[in-house]
Amino acid sequence: MDKFIIKGGKPLKGEVNISGAKNAVVAIIPAVILADGPCVLENIPDISDVSISLRILYEMGADVRNLGSGTYRIDASKITVPVVPYELARRMRASYYFLGTLLGKFHKARVAMPGGCYLGDRPIDQHLRAFSALGADCSLENGMIDINAGMLIGNQIYFDKITVGGTINAMLAACRATGLTVIENAAKEPHIVDLANFLNSMGADIMGAGTDVIKIRGVKHLKGAQYAVIPDQIEAGTYMVAAAATKGDVLIKNVIPKHLESITQKLAKIGVGVEEFDESIRIYADGPLVKTSVKTMPHPGFPTDMQPQISTLLCLAEGTSIVTEEIFNNRFRYVDELRRMGADISVEGKVAVIEGVGKLMGAPVTAPDLRAGAALVIAGLAASGVTEIDDIYHIERGYENIEEKLRSLGADIVKKNVPGSSVRKVEVG
Ligand code: EPU
Repeated sequence: MDKFIIKGGKPLKGEVNISGAKNAVVAIIPAVILADGPCVLENIPDISDVSISLRILYEMGADVRNLGSGTYRIDASKITVPVVPYELARRMRASYYFLGTLLGKFHKARVAMPGGCYLGDRPIDQHLRAFSALGADCSLENGMIDINAGMLIGNQIYFDKITVGGTINAMLAACRATGLTVIENAAKEPHIVDLANFLNSMGADIMGAGTDVIKIRGVKHLKGAQYAVIPDQIEAGTYMVAAAATKGDVLIKNVIPKHLESITQKLAKIGVGVEEFDESIRIYADGPLVKTSVKTMPHPGFPTDMQPQISTLLCLAEGTSIVTEEIFNNRFRYVDELRRMGADISVEGKVAVIEGVGKLMGAPVTAPDLRAGAALVIAGLAASGVTEIDDIYHIERGYENIEEKLRSLGADIVKKNVPGSSVRKVEVG
């Protein structure tokens, strides 16, 4: 297995380009199944979640061509069997988006049940309730979710809990249902809007994405389309925090600053310099960093996917910071690893109390999940001495060429292959 070896203490300086958004592409790639012809997708990041999604389509019978520079031509019109191969589905949590898209196209779907998760319980009851509201029967058999609908009929779907995945799955199925579907208490993340834009470019009729209420008028056919995926809000936020943690000065390019507002506001409170341009953000830190409180919330609140990274930055700030995790019940597993590096953090339920220690020290650590892994990279870049990060396959699920991008900013980071050092587990996200 690969590990990252980081010699820390170097301020990041220069420019970095942000790739396409992971959490948008893992929905947009399955959505091509709904099209009657080929789709061309641009700004697709080279990350393992994308490889798995494309592999699933290929194994199901789609023609998948890599046109270079992050562009893929995918013709899924030859897919006839609405079943996702079990071994591939279980490697990626987001494979549940094949449920919505196959249900929309074939009125039936069979996909492996997503398992437990490193972030805590992650039920999909809201997804299944949405499918039922559209007229589908859902059952579980031999670890597979089986969904069948004679007809898909538009309906009102009210989510008891704001759910990104549930909202996406409801949109995917409803855009081919008969009549009007109204999703209430919908998630509003940028990738929800991106998926709606992609589906609309295929001929869907979706209004209100990005608000609490999404209205979808079902259509009989969707055509192939060419579409460029939005930049990754969380990748951008991760480089913003890395620049701040190393007291660097970095221009983060190819971003939508509006998507980053909750992060830029928090960084400014911590004492980090932020300069916004049309499609880029400059982050610089030359003064002291100060404590703050952070509470994760659905968009437009502070994203849970940035919680481990900002907590790492707060270890380097003066004073006591409070971080409250409102979305997942087990997203502080990186804290033990940060403690090895000298962090002073105590966790009680969903609240972490971070006593600023000013500096961290390099240590051997293990990435417990994707964003926690990114936080450990930030910690390693800021720390004195050498940090070795194990299980970096988690990080590679969501960050394109992270070590090359960081090296171009002056970081001393290398990837080393250590034969047999760890067993690869199921990948989730
Ligand atoms: N929930 C339910 N029932 C459901 C669905 C969700 O109780 O049917 C709960 C979850 O357990 C959680 C909360 O609702 O407590 C929110 O979950 P949500 O459905 O919004 O999350 P998700 O769709 O499973 C996506 C991202 C996550 C990101 C969350 C929140 C993808 C593939 N995953 O997960 O991304 O943290 O939204 O924004 O889009 C990551 O990128 O590192 C990552 C984990």
